[in-house]
Amino acid sequence: MDLKSIQNYSNRKINLSGWVQNIRGNNKIQFIQFRNSGKIIQVVCEKEKLGEEKFLEIKSLDQETSIEISGTVVDNLKSDLGYEILLDELKIVSSSKDYPITPKEHGPDFLHNNRHLWIRSKLQLAILQIRNELSYQIRKYFYDRNYVLIDTPILTGSIGESAGTLFETEYFDIGKAYLAQTGQLYLETAIFAHDKVYCFGPTFRAEKSKTRRHLTEFWMLEVETANFHNEDNLALQEDFIKTISLATIEKSIQELKVLGRDIEKLKSYFEKPFVKISYREAIEILQKKGEDIKFGEDINAERENILTSEFEQAVFVKNYPREIKAFYMKQNPNDLETVLCADLIAPEGVGEIIGGSEREESYDKIIDRLNEEKLPIDSYTFYLDLRKYGSVPHSGFGLGLERLIAWICGLPHVRECIPYPRLMGRLDP
Ligand code: 4AD
Ligand code: MG
Repeated sequence: MDLKSIQNYSNRKINLSGWVQNIRGNNKIQFIQFRNSGKIIQVVCEKEKLGEEKFLEIKSLDQETSIEISGTVVDNLKSDLGYEILLDELKIVSSSKDYPITPKEHGPDFLHNNRHLWIRSKLQLAILQIRNELSYQIRKYFYDRNYVLIDTPILTGSIGESAGTLFETEYFDIGKAYLAQTGQLYLETAIFAHDKVYCFGPTFRAEKSKTRRHLTEFWMLEVETANFHNEDNLALQEDFIKTISLATIEKSIQELKVLGRDIEKLKSYFEKPFVKISYREAIEILQKKGEDIKFGEDINAERENILTSEFEQAVFVKNYPREIKAFYMKQNPNDLETVLCADLIAPEGVGEIIGGSEREESYDKIIDRLNEEKLPIDSYTFYLDLRKYGSVPHSGFGLGLERLIAWICGLPHVRECIPYPRLMGRLDP
């Protein structure tokens, strides 16, 4: 039995192991905030029932002492879980002296230095429980639609996205290996075998920027579909984000309340259509708002915020200029300066959560773009082969998991959305 299945134990006696999250009360009754399985329940300890000696032992319990309890589960509609436990017996498993994270406020640096302990705190429990649910819903969404999971390599010989943000390592006699910036190029090979494929794993970018939305190691879900065009790709992304987010919200009401999220407002994002505008339209909107931006410039975080505030909704920005996007994106036949792509920008300052595109099918155009980007053509032999042997139109996208978690949880920074954040200035713990 664990606290996640407490509803099956109403009015029954239970035994549980866990930790003292907190304890308060008076000389007659003490209330332990007891943690098990990422959930917290109130345990009611009455002196009259337990006797003087046991009661005093309980009253002096330290934060994070590990304990075993037995008692009766009863309804308590005012509590987060809807239940509390009336204590019969309590045994100390191991003590916890001077636990460093107390209920008072601590600064972010202190908390991140103690991340190995901080993950036990109430808000952090909620965030990582939501991450767990979201990861499950992501896998379920694609499994249910006959997509095949392809685990792409982490150590790679070719540059997936951009040369500027690579982690390099020596690889025996072969030379340099790079930590994968994307699984996409390998996913593209797999559509020829399985048509509809995805990968979901850690991704590495040596981002030299200290922003609220960049990690050097983050989790990306990437999807690739054969015989699929840019518009099909957008429709899939919209259905996917809405389906997994609503399912996660439904399963995470308690956690979202702990995080102080306005659940109705959050749900409303996923119950109405996402906005779709072109990059050219985005530039016009930004110029009207007084921004000094012209065609060819990237839309930075601040400007993404201006766009989503305009619509108070997630916004697809389509057809970016060719030269500011990756080499594999398909040239737009109706506007040759642009590509058939879209970024999905989330509101509330979260910014780009998805980047995706239709893929260039032309062998020669890919060669031209690789040359323009000064990428070594030899490392792309396997990729270029795909354009020689039965090429088909195809499209795909990548979702940054931590950014979607930040949106759902209403967090200003992605660093709390992953158990152990890797940032420019942080590798420990
Ligand atoms: O836009 P990106 O770079 O696209 C790709 O990597 C494509 N290969 C995806 C594909 O088409 N298969 O990255 C995709 C998403 C971004 O929209 C963002 O959400 C997230 O990955 N992301 C990061 N998240 C946290 N920290 C970083 N440093 C990130 N870089 C990208
Ligand atoms: Mg991008």
